[in-house]
Amino acid sequence: MPARLTGALIALSLAVVPVSVARGVAPFPQRATAFANRPAIAVGVAWYPEQWPESRWDADLMMMRATGFNTVRIGEFAWSRMEPEEGRFDLAWLDRAIAAAQRHGMMVVLGTPTAAPPAWMTQQYPDVLRVDEDGTPAVHGARRHFSFSSQRYRSFSRRIAAEMARRYGHHPAVVGWQIDNEIGPPSFDGEAVAAWHRFLEKRYGTIGELNCRWATEYWSQRYNNFDQIPLRPTGQQNPALQLEFKHFTTATWTDFIQNQARAVRPLIDPRAFVTTNTMFWNAGFDHYRLHHDLDLAAWDNYIPDGRPDWVANGANHDLVRGYKQRNFWLMETQPGRVDWVPVNRALDPGQVREIAWQAVAHGADAVLYWQWRPAANGQETYHGAVLGQDGKPNPIQPEIARTATELSGAAALLSDTSPVARVAMLFSYDSRWAIDLQRHHRDFDPVRAFTDFYRPLRTKAQGVAILPVEADLSAFPLAVAPNLNVLTQAQAAGLARYVRGGGHLVLGPRSGMKDDSNALWPQRQPGPLTELLGARVEQYYALDKKVALAGSIGGGATIWAEALAPVAGNVRVLSTYRDPGGWLDGKPAIVTRKVGRGSVTYVGAWLDAATMASLADRLLSDAQVSALIPDGDADLEIAERSGGGKRLLIVINHGGMSHPFTPPAGAVPASGDWRGGAIPAHGVALFNLAPGARP
Ligand code: GLA
Repeated sequence: MPARLTGALIALSLAVVPVSVARGVAPFPQRATAFANRPAIAVGVAWYPEQWPESRWDADLMMMRATGFNTVRIGEFAWSRMEPEEGRFDLAWLDRAIAAAQRHGMMVVLGTPTAAPPAWMTQQYPDVLRVDEDGTPAVHGARRHFSFSSQRYRSFSRRIAAEMARRYGHHPAVVGWQIDNEIGPPSFDGEAVAAWHRFLEKRYGTIGELNCRWATEYWSQRYNNFDQIPLRPTGQQNPALQLEFKHFTTATWTDFIQNQARAVRPLIDPRAFVTTNTMFWNAGFDHYRLHHDLDLAAWDNYIPDGRPDWVANGANHDLVRGYKQRNFWLMETQPGRVDWVPVNRALDPGQVREIAWQAVAHGADAVLYWQWRPAANGQETYHGAVLGQDGKPNPIQPEIARTATELSGAAALLSDTSPVARVAMLFSYDSRWAIDLQRHHRDFDPVRAFTDFYRPLRTKAQGVAILPVEADLSAFPLAVAPNLNVLTQAQAAGLARYVRGGGHLVLGPRSGMKDDSNALWPQRQPGPLTELLGARVEQYYALDKKVALAGSIGGGATIWAEALAPVAGNVRVLSTYRDPGGWLDGKPAIVTRKVGRGSVTYVGAWLDAATMASLADRLLSDAQVSALIPDGDADLEIAERSGGGKRLLIVINHGGMSHPFTPPAGAVPASGDWRGGAIPAHGVALFNLAPGARP
């Protein structure tokens, strides 16, 4: 077997993520918790009791109940309080805080405090500190100043997590566990370097294999052994090394989280979930992989500039739902504003409620605000909160209270339901990273490229599932992969099976160019799918101005254009460049080929918005995917959640003006603002649809 192929097989076995459930119990239900006697929708807030006198706790919890909250998240960041000195645990205050929450009828999510190691540890054991790429160790005083590779830190983390789990694992108020908080920054310390070498050795087996797959004859990069390979994923390093660094950070963070999950699980009620809270498109690691052994995904949805782009935010939620293809927790969202961008504008009145319902429409079974009350000092005194520094409600509180009450009121309806989508979009971390590492056009932002494809598909189909490339696509007539730059043989084979089984597959520009070591496939794009497509990319061009497109999909290409070359007889050209005097003139830009009842389409250009919209119309009609509500208004988000014999229609007016809305025949208003045939600005309406019948 040629070395290159052996490498490919090793890489495949490491890279393919089976999409299944790892816990030893039944799959997590489509409701907030697996406790049947607990609310199906969690609404709550991050509460830091350690920051306040105990004499205040009851008042706070009473006010939380009055706000309609049923959940508090406690514990994250409180390490110096829980273990004030090495090995001396003081959890009595936490016992009392959890007991107080329970007295007030709250569900509790416990966070392990490992995002904020205490001073005694960093002073006594400076080797636990994170080291920047330039070799500078982190300084105590902020957070996330630990190394994700440090075995000593792992052992301290395991100990505090187990201590908490022993104590609260079967506490009747505790419904879930959040490991750490927003993991992300990697470390470049000596242990990380050694782990990197071990990681590469395990992945490639021999240094010869690595040299071959990384093509290290280029620039005399050939390595004699794994220990020579720098942990330096930036600058002019080999893009193979840079992509492997992402695989390494994925493996290291996954193991970092599992280190605690393994300590906690045997000690807790099996119905309690174990998760971590993440940051949607964060590029640090592969989120599908990280979530594989967690019970559910949880994320922190912020609109930093206070100007929601509802379609893009919908994509954020759909991405998170795709991590496990299951409903998720919105672990944090803003009570008005954040404090970490240059201009921290507050959302308009009504928008906090609007974005909470949007999360639910996309599959959230929990909405938790960050935070209850600002600490008296620290980095976040300017952040939005439910209460002000005087302990009295901020002006946003009544809107949050209304949202919380409505969500709880709709819990019975929402329980056991999940979002409905007939269009799948495939997002691959490897592809995103590979493009980002070598954009070739500065504006080729792979997340923006993805969102540009998502936008018309979401608004026209009113439901999109974002999935890993290996997912089972059989329920989706249409699967769109905007930029599948890294495409393995196994993935290509899976996609070809989907098409042969009647699926309509659409590939966007730059697809099928690289293998999962970021090396060029020996054939032109779309590489392993060229034969199925019956066409290939002749050449690609970065554009500094728009190029016109003519044909059944006319319009314009921007940023990126590929000249396509059909090779099979039955390939149809849908669009051709008009580029007089240029390389692209007369060349096909979009081609499609029928394969049995299915089809494969290749879109070789980054299309402008109008062209993308006409393409979406055509793709949806070819795949016979119709809108739930035809001719939807641009400001109105339409979504369906169904399951357990229920079908719910959720309509959200993201605009600043009232919009007329006619519900489908048979729809029964269940809650919200629909009055007199219209939904007011930032309004929300929930309808019961007759099960089974599509309106
Ligand atoms: C993140 C963190 C929180 C808090 C918020 C502020 O989401 O998880 O601890 O810092 O940001 O927006």
